[in-house]
Amino acid sequence: MVASDLLLILAPTIQMTQEKIITLVDTIATKALGEKLGAALGPGSVILLTGDLGAGKTTLVQGIGAGLGIRELIASPTFTLVNEYHEGRIPLYHLDLYRLETGEIENLYLENYWEGKEVTPGITAIEWSSRLPYLPIDYITIDLQPDPSAGRVAIIKTTETVSLPPL
Ligand SMILES: Nc1ncnc2c1ncn2[C@@H]1O[C@H](COP(=O)(O)OP(=O)(O)O)[C@@H](O)[C@H]1O
Ligand SMILES: [Mg+2]
Repeated sequence: MVASDLLLILAPTIQMTQEKIITLVDTIATKALGEKLGAALGPGSVILLTGDLGAGKTTLVQGIGAGLGIRELIASPTFTLVNEYHEGRIPLYHLDLYRLETGEIENLYLENYWEGKEVTPGITAIEWSSRLPYLPIDYITIDLQPDPSAGRVAIIKTTETVSLPPL
């Protein structure tokens, strides 16, 4: 085998991102998905959430909090921009960009959260993440969509080097 053959074999693997589609029949299922992520993900993990109002983004973050061992009530940080929780295994930074324009976000140094600069590295979960003007190198995206059965469907993707726990 010559080097170019090897590249042909490797190239699709290198470019591929993981994709998982999970049906969430009810609120409990959304929380359970979050819990698995919260129990397993390491410091510096970033979860970019998309999906309309009422899609279940905050519910998923509540599950992440439970998986981290946070007992405090997790509510949407729509007016506060970011809520920080420090009582779990690692910190949870819960951001909601709903009320912000992309141009306003640039000067907020949100990357400090996922780079662990001036904060203890933890999990950063971002609602309305499509408003971010820049992205971390590695992240997980979770798009929540309504399912015809009245539940939700989660479409989960990751950048190359992120490994997901069994979900
Ligand atoms: N899989 C699901 N099936 C049905 N309802 C759900 C599901 N997941 C969450 N919900 C419900 O959807 C509502 C809105 O959820 P929320 O997490 O506040 O949405 P968002 O943060 O995306 O606006 C809540 O009442 C929640 O209980
Ligand atoms: Mg919300």
